[in-house]
Formats: sequence, C-alpha cells, structure tokens
Amino acid sequence: MEHSTETPIDDEDNDELHITLLIWIMVAVLVITALVSLFVFVFKKGKPDNKEDMVGLLASESDITDYEDLCRQHVASKKSEMVDGASGKIITIGDAEQVTEGLDSVATSWSHEPVTADMDISTCHVVLSYMEDHLKNKDRLMKEWEALLRYKVDRSSGLVASRAVNIRLNRYSDTFPYDHNRVVLTTSPTNDNDYINASYIYDHNPRNPMYIATQGPIPNTKAHFWQMVWEQKIATVVMLARLKENDVAVCALYWPEKKGKECYGDFEVTLVSEHNWCDDYVVRNFYLRNIKNQETRTVTQFQYLSWPDMGIPKDTKNFLEFRRKINRSYHGQGCPVIIHCNDGAGRAGTYILIDMTLKRLSKGTKEIDIAATIEHLRDQRISMVKTKVQFEFALSSIAEEVNDILNALK
Ligand SMILES: *[C@@H]1O[C@H](CO)[C@@H](O)[C@H](O)[C@H]1NC(C)=O
Ligand SMILES: *[C@@H]1O[C@H](CO)[C@@H](O)[C@H](O)[C@H]1NC(C)=O
Repeated sequence: MEHSTETPIDDEDNDELHITLLIWIMVAVLVITALVSLFVFVFKKGKPDNKEDMVGLLASESDITDYEDLCRQHVASKKSEMVDGASGKIITIGDAEQVTEGLDSVATSWSHEPVTADMDISTCHVVLSYMEDHLKNKDRLMKEWEALLRYKVDRSSGLVASRAVNIRLNRYSDTFPYDHNRVVLTTSPTNDNDYINASYIYDHNPRNPMYIATQGPIPNTKAHFWQMVWEQKIATVVMLARLKENDVAVCALYWPEKKGKECYGDFEVTLVSEHNWCDDYVVRNFYLRNIKNQETRTVTQFQYLSWPDMGIPKDTKNFLEFRRKINRSYHGQGCPVIIHCNDGAGRAGTYILIDMTLKRLSKGTKEIDIAATIEHLRDQRISMVKTKVQFEFALSSIAEEVNDILNALK
C-alpha cells in the first residue's frame, strides 16, 4: 500500500522534474535564439548603407526590367511593321538589322534627356552674363532687332527660285532660297526640274552643311521632298509646325498616317512607329525605300506641336529637351538635318540659331554674338528668325540650357 502510494508520488516528482527540465531547456533555447537574433540584427545594423543600396538596386532592377520590356515591345512592334512595310518585297538581313538598330536607338531615348556638359564653368558664366545683359537691357535688345530688320542681302541671287516654272513650287512668294546655297535635286524622267525650296545652312565649314532649311512641302512637292531626303542622305527631319494652323494648311501631310505606307514619286515611305512624348512633341520613325534600286533606309522625324507661327514654344523646358533628343539622335552622322516649319525661315531659323549657338559653345567658342549669327543665317536664307519675340526666345533658351549645364557641372 505504502509502496503503491509512494510510487505514484515518486512518479509525480519525476514528472515534475521532467517538466521543469523541459521548461529550462526551452527557456535556454529561447534565450539563445534571442541572442543570436540580436547579434544578427546588430551585425546587419552595422552596415545600413549596404542594406539601403540593396533596396535601391532592387527598385532600379525592376525599373530596368520594365524598361527592357518596353524596349522589347517597341522592337517587336517595329519588327512586325517592318515586315508589313516590306510585304511583297524581300527584305535582306542587312535591312532588318538596320531597322532594329534604328528602333533600339529610339527605345534608349525613352528616359528624360540629360544635358551634356561640354562646356567649362567659366564659359558658362561668360555666356550667362551676355544673355542676362541682353535680356535685361530691353533698349539694347530693341536696337539690335531694329538693326537686324535693316539688314539686307542682295536678293538678285534668288533667280532660279523666281523662274515662272518654279513659282508654283514655292509655298510663299517672299521666302525663297538663294541660288548659291539652294539644294539641287538630280533630274530624272519623273522629275525633270532640279528645284526645291530648300537652302543648305552652314556654320564655319563651307563643305559641310549642318542643316537644310526648307518650306513645309506643298501637295505637288512631296515627292521632291523625299527625293531630297534620299539624295542628301538625311536621317533626321525636324518639323516645327502643325499641318494646319488657324484653319490654314501650312504643310502638306507628306508621310503616311496610321502605320500605313505610301509612295511619293520614286520613294515608298512606311510609318514604323509614332511616339507622343508629351503634349508638345511627337517622334515618328519611317522606313524609306527607293523603288528604283530597292535600297532602304530609316528616317526619324521630330515634330514640335506647340510652337505658333511668328511666336515661340510655350514650354521652354520641353523645347530644350526636344532639341537635346534631336542632337543625340543625329550626332556624328555627318549629314545635314532637315529643319522645316511652314516657310523654313521663322521657326526653322530660330531653331537653327539656338542649336548652332549651343553647338559652337560646346565646341569651345567663347565669343557669342547672337545678332551677328542671325545675319549669318540671313545670308543663307531670307527672313531667318522672323520676330523680336523669337530673337528674345533664342537668347533666353540658350541661357536656360547653359544654366542647366552649369548646374550639371556643380
Ligand atoms: C520658298 O519657300 C518659302 C516659304 O514657303 C517661300 O516664301 C518662297 O517664296 C519660296 N521660294 C521659292 C523660290 O520657291
Ligand atoms: C550633342 O550630343 C552629343 C552626344 O550626345 C554631345 O556630346 C554634345 O554635347 C551635344 N551637343 C549639344 C550642343 O547639345
């Protein structure tokens, strides 16, 4: 009985002992776990930068993936369009590569366009004080503009342009190319006239025109336009007008709409892509085929949508970004860029003035004289930069770009 009563007690004691032991072991495990966690935590906290870096990297990795997807879609859609555009005709691999390259270069320009800082800080300051000086001193600005209005070029040099047969090839009767620097088309059975209303615009090098300023094509000159694009090996076209402004047609639709294709004389043009960057501008890629020899090329067109005739772009920041994209797109290609608006003089002249000045500065020029540069442009085409607000806009947008460059240098 005693034994029998003791045994259960003993058993109970044993059980209690086991439970206590178990609890102690659990507590020990918990404490060790806590210590290890604490150690790991402290250790990790010791390198917070790494942790942040990793988070940053992860975020940008997903951005990169999105971006790459976007590029792939872009390339894929371009490829299918390319095949579309080529239906009935055989595309060589070289062609395909060419088009894909074109697409890639478009795809890489999807992000914000950074300033390129080829200028040193002292040049930036010189330029900024010149611009500030002119912009603040309205009197001087007015005087310079009035002097520009009096600036006359010998108009008798526009003889070819004013021949009766060529009058109908001009959009306006008062803006014509001078003979000495007009773009001459090669003649062919389909175009026996070498005339197009377009002028080479040079900076210093008389052998390498930097731009071709031309009128917005009119319905009977679309084929001439594409012939010029082909013959001058143009890769970039800058359009600074809309097709219609204040209900007046100021430029003929010279490209196919909605990803179609169309023939203009000896040239078949396919719209490969169209990208609206913002409300202010759109970029289109064309696939251009010479029907006579089956050779193909790509052409990129940048159209600025919010720059009224005789006026200025409403958003300088977007305009400057537009110019940077264009510069990057054709930089180093060695062929001129076509710049046109309605007459190839007012807005085209203003664009060229700004771009030419920024290019001179990035090549190290320290001398700037905007009025003299306008005269230099007017020696090459009538009415380049048409209004005082355009003159002022050129000054202020150059100042803004140089200011951005300066900020990037700091
Ligand atoms: C060239 O085009 C401009 C603008 O459209 C026009 O004013 C001018 O008369 C044209 N000149 C010639 C010779 O075609
Ligand atoms: C044009 O682009 C090139 C290449 O990106 C750059 O080096 C140069 O500074 C740019 N020029 C201007 C005037 O923006």
